[in-house]
Amino acid sequence: MIPKPRKEQMKEGALFIGDKIALIDEGKTFSSITKVMQKQMEEWLHIQVFIEDDDKEKNGDEGATKIELKPMTAKNKKTKEDKAQAGAYQLEITPDKITVWSGDLQGAFYGVQSLIQLIVESPTVPCRYIEDAPRYPWRGLMVDVSRCFYPVPVIKSILDEMAFLKLNIFHWHLTDDQGFRIPIKKYPKLTEGQPHYTHEEIKEVVHYARERCIDIVPEIDMPGHFTASIAAYPYLGCTGEAVDVPEHFGVFKTIACGGKETTYQFIRDVLDEVCQLFPYEYIHLGGDEARKDQWKQCPHCQKKIQEEGLEDVEALQGYFMNCIFKYLMDTKGKKVIGWNENLHAKNLDERLIIQHWYDGKGRKNSRKALQEKREMIISDTEHVYFDYPYCVTPLKKVYRYAPVFKGISEEGSKTVKGVEATIWTEFIREKDVLEKMLYPRLHALAEVGWTEPQNKDYSDFLRRLEPQNRFMLKRGICGTPIEEGDMSWIKAKTDEFIYRRRVNKIHKRNKELNA
Ligand code: ACM
Ligand code: ZN
Repeated sequence: MIPKPRKEQMKEGALFIGDKIALIDEGKTFSSITKVMQKQMEEWLHIQVFIEDDDKEKNGDEGATKIELKPMTAKNKKTKEDKAQAGAYQLEITPDKITVWSGDLQGAFYGVQSLIQLIVESPTVPCRYIEDAPRYPWRGLMVDVSRCFYPVPVIKSILDEMAFLKLNIFHWHLTDDQGFRIPIKKYPKLTEGQPHYTHEEIKEVVHYARERCIDIVPEIDMPGHFTASIAAYPYLGCTGEAVDVPEHFGVFKTIACGGKETTYQFIRDVLDEVCQLFPYEYIHLGGDEARKDQWKQCPHCQKKIQEEGLEDVEALQGYFMNCIFKYLMDTKGKKVIGWNENLHAKNLDERLIIQHWYDGKGRKNSRKALQEKREMIISDTEHVYFDYPYCVTPLKKVYRYAPVFKGISEEGSKTVKGVEATIWTEFIREKDVLEKMLYPRLHALAEVGWTEPQNKDYSDFLRRLEPQNRFMLKRGICGTPIEEGDMSWIKAKTDEFIYRRRVNKIHKRNKELNA
């Protein structure tokens, strides 16, 4: 089973799971997710599933194995630990039935995911009692669909795997220099002539994720990584000049003008529509890698700096983010996330949640922000950037990761909400490659986010991974073979050398194109 549960007690006997299951949800407490559980077991395990949520006569369920879904009430709480922690559940397998107790939909869903994984190991499931709950509330994956557009079936397939591994946040990087992938009615040119999702497709994905207990965090990156918007509406840039949507990658000078009111209006309009499509608590505003060359020269930006009494161009980014953040918070009740570069601004609102990815070797700003108790999501480049090849980020390195900074205690890391892997798609142009980069590192990430450190053990993980990996491949999902992901130090070093030489060449070419 992956991720490994918090507590597992083996019992006498075993339960053979035949070809029929009765999924019993008497009070219809879990009716919004039983259909997906049914679909998973029917499609993946070829078991016929009867959902029993009323008193009507059942036909055909004779001899079915019973799974009872039960709300966890104060009365049947077995330990102090299963307080109202989102996603917590208990799973009991006895020789004659299976029971899942949980306090929320997520918990019931996860209890059944655990059960499916046990059936994958063997249809004769040894009896046991599991008490489980996540280590972190935030267990995420970011997928970049701007650099390479991945259509809805690919996204759904990723959501399937995430749900099965009890990951609960899908961060959708929808805009960047190379493309804007969400249509905005008020600004149709943003997606004109480019691959993009339709509103119907986005609604479909939102529904699909919800049924699998996954929240979606849409990201509209600003003020840097904004070239696609400026290409569509040149007035959004500092110079007002026409630019092309770039076909190469890098950290460009092109940036949204932080001085003109029209930029702020555009972003508010865009976010109005984004928020209508994504009914979630969180939204991501990017803020990474925003070069300030143009802001230093721009009369509008300089005027804004003067008028607002800002210290410098970094403070202008702070002002910019604060304006948009306050708009989202005040008018829509959203919580807002930004990448760690936003911390360069000393005036950044303390409520903006930081996603840490790279902040120099000392991680100085992120470290300070954490010490000041800012909420944080950790996506450390060296450990959970899955666009990096396995020679740079092998399976073991991901597995052994703990999303805290050296020297900051567990106690001092209380505001770490959790961990999120990313996959940037500049060099990942095919579904098969995307899957090979994701799996099985996503399995390792799941355990980083879910499992208590004292329960983690790499060789035990590899043993548990084997049947789950085989099951994934059987369902037509690609993955890197476990031995290749778990590469030896010497092979990793050689491959890394070759990889870095190749990447340096690409960077050199992009620099020339940029200049
Ligand atoms: C990032 O990798 N630019 C957040
Ligand atoms: Zn400007």
